[in-house]
Amino acid sequence: MRAAPRRSIEKSNAQFQKALKRLPLGVASTFRYWGDDRTIYVDHGKGGRIWDIDGNGYVDYRLGYGPAILGYADERVDAAARRGMEVGGVFALSTERELAVADRIAKMVPGVDLVRYSNSGTEAVMAALRLARAHTGRDSYLLIEGAYHGLFDAAMWMANVEEWSQRGGGDPEVVAYSKGIPQELKTLAHLVPMNDLQRLEDTFKRHGNDMAAMLIEPIQGNCCGISASGDYVRLARKLCDQYGVLLIIDEVKTGFRVARGGVQSLHGVTPDICTFAKAMANGYPIAVVAGREEVMRTFRYGGAAHGGTYTAHSVSLAAAEECLRILDETPALETLAKYGENLKAGMSRILNRRGIVHSYAGHDSMFGLFFAEKAPDNYRDWKTSDYSFYDQMAYHLHDLGVICEPDSREPWFMCEAHDASCLEDTLVAFETAVDMTLEHFEAEKRA
Ligand SMILES: Cc1ncc(COP(=O)(O)O)c(C=O)c1O
Repeated sequence: MRAAPRRSIEKSNAQFQKALKRLPLGVASTFRYWGDDRTIYVDHGKGGRIWDIDGNGYVDYRLGYGPAILGYADERVDAAARRGMEVGGVFALSTERELAVADRIAKMVPGVDLVRYSNSGTEAVMAALRLARAHTGRDSYLLIEGAYHGLFDAAMWMANVEEWSQRGGGDPEVVAYSKGIPQELKTLAHLVPMNDLQRLEDTFKRHGNDMAAMLIEPIQGNCCGISASGDYVRLARKLCDQYGVLLIIDEVKTGFRVARGGVQSLHGVTPDICTFAKAMANGYPIAVVAGREEVMRTFRYGGAAHGGTYTAHSVSLAAAEECLRILDETPALETLAKYGENLKAGMSRILNRRGIVHSYAGHDSMFGLFFAEKAPDNYRDWKTSDYSFYDQMAYHLHDLGVICEPDSREPWFMCEAHDASCLEDTLVAFETAVDMTLEHFEAEKRA
């Protein structure tokens, strides 16, 4: 086994102590807190790597939870953003570029007739649900267990799989992700496990006539890349049509990543509404709610309210125009998917040599790694994989210069700038991390 290089994060630790006095948990987003002595602060990112304020470099597979599809500080997109800066920001009026970017999106995604902009994935999905409710005149909606659609109240209901036992036979309890979410809202959300066709049919039979929308991420970007089968997505489309429910495909993570036309194009299923965000501007804040003309025209006075002071900011819009051009006209997506394929092959060689059973879910450009023979079909199955091995390994990887999410539910993300040196560094670190993890559990057994 190779010796593990030691990493000092002294400066990050000191920054954490200072930041704690002014920022809750010392961070700007709760998910960035990794523990009092493991929370790191970034100095800068470039390409497929980031550097912390102690000078440690990492190959990064979080990529800000997906946005840096071309790599950090991409010169092409940043130059476009600077041109966008010269436009002047926001005017509470429209600019010509809004149409140019919308045209590009409609060209790339066959199911998109019309487009509206938002600033974040949360805002876009919130707008999508409002639109569906306004269009159908109904309030309730269907969510898939394990899904994440953002931080607004209606999306924050989850199946409490962590405290659920398969043996009891019942469903996991539906609980709010957070305190501060009114319990009254719970009755509007119907949750079903992914890929259970019968259960989907039954739920539509019971609630279909009252539901405004079914929300689905056919590759779950916050749940290991667990993927819907083609049959499941097609059944969803059929049931939505049958019951007058709008199908919302949330492509905040998959959009402009797994394919130019998004995950919907991989399934050949057209949603009524879809949402995009992360990859569309290589990290500049912009998102999209888009879809079928008849539905989208419900955004009008007297229809569904939509807008916002910072919507279609000139910097983000210019960045989106260039990023989408690159994704559409160059082989960037093929390049990064190929990298993901090579990374998985390299990881498998290391794991197979040690007889470690594993599998992958999702897509080459964003995949989940499982220590189980078969990747889960739904969030309930995730419980049966050995995620404690993953969690331990993730911490070693950080120490060894590779950043993945410490929670196995977050997939690994690839970017165009991940190159041969990133791959080599990752696999060297991965081999060491796997051995350190094996040793950790052997020592635990001996103790
Ligand atoms: C599928 C999906 N929808 C919505 C969101 C919310 O996006 P944001 O964090 O930009 O608000 C996310 C964020 O990870 C997501 O993965």
